[in-house]
Amino acid sequence: MTEMRTEVLQEILDEIARDMAHQTERGAVASYIPELAKADRSRFGIAVAPIEGDVLVAGDADERFSIQSISKVFTLTLAMERAGRELWSRVGREPSGNRFNSIVQLEQERGVPRNPFINAGAIVVADILLEGRAPDAAIGDVLALCRRLAQDETVGIDDAVAESETRTGERNRALAYFMSAEGNLREPVDKTLDVYFHQCAVAMSCRQLARAGSYLCAAGRKRGFADKVVTLDRARRINALMMTCGLYDASGEFAFQIGIPAKSGVGGGVLGIVPGVASIAAWSPGLDTHGSSLLGQAAFRELARRTGWSVFGPVSEDG
Ligand code: DON
Repeated sequence: MTEMRTEVLQEILDEIARDMAHQTERGAVASYIPELAKADRSRFGIAVAPIEGDVLVAGDADERFSIQSISKVFTLTLAMERAGRELWSRVGREPSGNRFNSIVQLEQERGVPRNPFINAGAIVVADILLEGRAPDAAIGDVLALCRRLAQDETVGIDDAVAESETRTGERNRALAYFMSAEGNLREPVDKTLDVYFHQCAVAMSCRQLARAGSYLCAAGRKRGFADKVVTLDRARRINALMMTCGLYDASGEFAFQIGIPAKSGVGGGVLGIVPGVASIAAWSPGLDTHGSSLLGQAAFRELARRTGWSVFGPVSEDG
């Protein structure tokens, strides 16, 4: 995979943003979290943080959106540090093949979620971050990491989104109570979900998100940081999970079509990592039927095709 000249890459991003502005098929905004239903489907933004050089942006790249499930990448990063190998006795690392909030597998598999990116898995991860302290302390750690990685202290939590999801989060409550009954949550369900709902409500722009993901394309290191954010092994494993589980029951298709480890959120964001090359964030609030941004994915497909950035080799014109 090659690095690209800045001017060429900027031109590609501008063209993608122009093209996305004209798309009429834009998907549907998430309505099961009422606050997210207010998002404007006409928006599209993209940002690329190359391993060397400044962040390049196009479209609405400075508009903040709810990162939702993309936060699971950052909480996993923290939980790997906090729990070490013990993490993997409480959550698996296989794709689920089911929707992100599915309940069916959890009973068959005795309350151990398939992976840390489906909701059940992320709730276990939130429980690990919470263990032995108050929700505010765990939420504070997640926010501090997002700010540190984005190198922007203005990154915050959208309280209206957190409140909206707390009011309507019965499905996540069902998952959490089931796991608690199976002994896979150690803290009270309402406190664990308080952490989970607030992490999902972190708001970031594409520019901030692309910058925040850059440690994953640089073997756990971040330019300008004295210490690694994570070890090389952990960065590799997070990327592997993004490739196999990051888009839930559409992860196989995204790997097949595009070949970039990625994580989506129902706020319409997609974070993608091209190891050794760049961290990429795209955003448009309209979702496909699997719960990932329709135009966000289309933008990744176009970017991969035009740059050759795919871990499996170049994406050709005719696919
Ligand atoms: O728990 C939920 O349902 C949401 N807070 C997050 C789900 C999500 O982002 C799924 N991603 N595409």
